[in-house]
Amino acid sequence: MIPVAASVGDAEYTLRDLAVPLDLKHLVPAATDWEVELGFGKGRYLLRRAESRTSHGFLGVEMAGAYYRLAQQRMRRRKLTNLVLVHGEALYLLSGVLPRAFAAAVHVYFPDPWPKARHQKRRLFDTETVDLVLDLLAVGGRLYFATDFLEYGEVVQGILESYPAVEVAEVPGCWANGARTNYEAKYLREGRPILRLEVQRVSEAKVSLHPEIEARVLAAVGTRQEAQ
Ligand SMILES: C[S@@+](CC[C@H](N)C(=O)[O-])C[C@H]1O[C@@H](n2cnc3c(N)ncnc32)[C@H](O)[C@@H]1O
Repeated sequence: MIPVAASVGDAEYTLRDLAVPLDLKHLVPAATDWEVELGFGKGRYLLRRAESRTSHGFLGVEMAGAYYRLAQQRMRRRKLTNLVLVHGEALYLLSGVLPRAFAAAVHVYFPDPWPKARHQKRRLFDTETVDLVLDLLAVGGRLYFATDFLEYGEVVQGILESYPAVEVAEVPGCWANGARTNYEAKYLREGRPILRLEVQRVSEAKVSLHPEIEARVLAAVGTRQEAQ
């Protein structure tokens, strides 16, 4: 799936209309800091947060067309001009369309866990993809993550903790301001256990490949050089 559209207030663009990587300063000129939500669903959290922090720019990514359009209608009804909604696939957008190291906060709540082995390459948090997500963060920026799929949560926590550029903390209980998203509100009502993580990018160093993948690439290069 390639991105089809991006909306800001009443304007809607196709990718062809826009500079790549996206020129966020052009889309929301007054924004001081940026926050990103990947897979915003019905947009409950993103819309509320954009409404409450008008000096910040917000960028939401969602691949389900029905949710994108629902959030677009709500954004327009609330006359929000500090929110960029992008309809597209997050890994594709992260790998070239979105700028790097610009976000003060990245929110990922209840991402699809893709439990089947053959689907795991679609995970946002996998050794092969985690660098794309972390590299959205400016130094000092924070990633907020939650999942009810605890098995996946443990894997994600392990991957993040083995990353030298970040510090990972488990958030005990609910976030300070209560449920953030539709899924979180639903799971809290159902009493499901939820793993919440807060992850800070602490290093100036460029976020590169996950150490495990880097080792694999170096081993492959070494093998090729030996063969030559
Ligand atoms: C389980 S729902 C959670 C929605 C919302 N974050 C919440 O907590 O209420 C996962 C959402 O992520 C979106 N999504 C899943 N994979 C995605 C991807 N690769 N790119 C963009 N959106 C994605 C789905 O369409 C869905 O809306």
